[in-house]
Amino acid sequence: MTGLIEKLRQQIVSTQVWRSIFRHGYPDTDLNRALVMFSNVILHLHPVRVKRGALKIRYTWCLGGLTFFMFIILTITGVFLMFYYVPDTRRAYNDIKDLQYVVYFGNLMRDMHRWAAHAMVFLVWLHMTRVFLTGAYKPPREFNWIVGVMLLVLTLILSWTGYLLPWDQLALWAITVGSKMAEATPVIGVSGPFGLQMGMRPDNDIRFMLLGGTVVGQSALLRFYVLHCVGLPLLAGVFMAVHFWRIRKDGFSGPL
Ligand code: HEM
Repeated sequence: MTGLIEKLRQQIVSTQVWRSIFRHGYPDTDLNRALVMFSNVILHLHPVRVKRGALKIRYTWCLGGLTFFMFIILTITGVFLMFYYVPDTRRAYNDIKDLQYVVYFGNLMRDMHRWAAHAMVFLVWLHMTRVFLTGAYKPPREFNWIVGVMLLVLTLILSWTGYLLPWDQLALWAITVGSKMAEATPVIGVSGPFGLQMGMRPDNDIRFMLLGGTVVGQSALLRFYVLHCVGLPLLAGVFMAVHFWRIRKDGFSGPL
């Protein structure tokens, strides 16, 4: 019986279909294990060997990994929310209410999206603090620290642009205050240092560019929506890819 099964197995693994998918033998030798890792689209992201110390949870607390996990949750739940939400000032608020009270699992998706956003902001700070406290920002990882700073800023702007979308009082005034702060940016803001000297006016400065007007209205909602759902997530995705690539290339800073 065992011989029969073994013969069948050998017949299957020698077919052209099998060999076109699995291009390596059973991972029982170092060479085969390496081939398995290199030839698989998902596994190739991982190194062939991992040092025991790199798995030590009390060094990283997996804070970077958890931040990334939040980003994945946000992407999935965000796509779901996009099916029901229209960035039109006449219906945005009602779309959110529909998500809460009418759409099946709508409230769950909205809550997951909101809580994951809070968690991502919280975790990215903690991750940065861990990197700082373990001195992992020092050479050769200084470039990745800068990439990390970009990710931190992108995370905060993602959170801020999402804030406007429910189009309620909180959203409106939070973005009014935030965009007023942008107006005070040096050189490119009309009320910032050297703004007037640089020819800034309320209708051509950074706040105007951000809102697409001088008040938080339809143009602002559309701009924030496009930035929140397309521009910033794509940019963050690219920066994360570079971040993960550098982690591999620079080597892990922790105990080996
Ligand atoms: C969206 C935001 C971010 C994500 C998803 C992310 C993800 C990760 C992951 C998964 C790691 C592997 C080790 C670990 O889990 O701790 C890591 C390492 C690292 N991250 Fe981040 N990170 C982000 C933001 C940042 C920020 C804000 C900084 C610093 C300003 C930073 C700097 C670094 C550095 C220098 C390493 C290498 C650490 C080492 O070798 O010990 N990252 N990141």
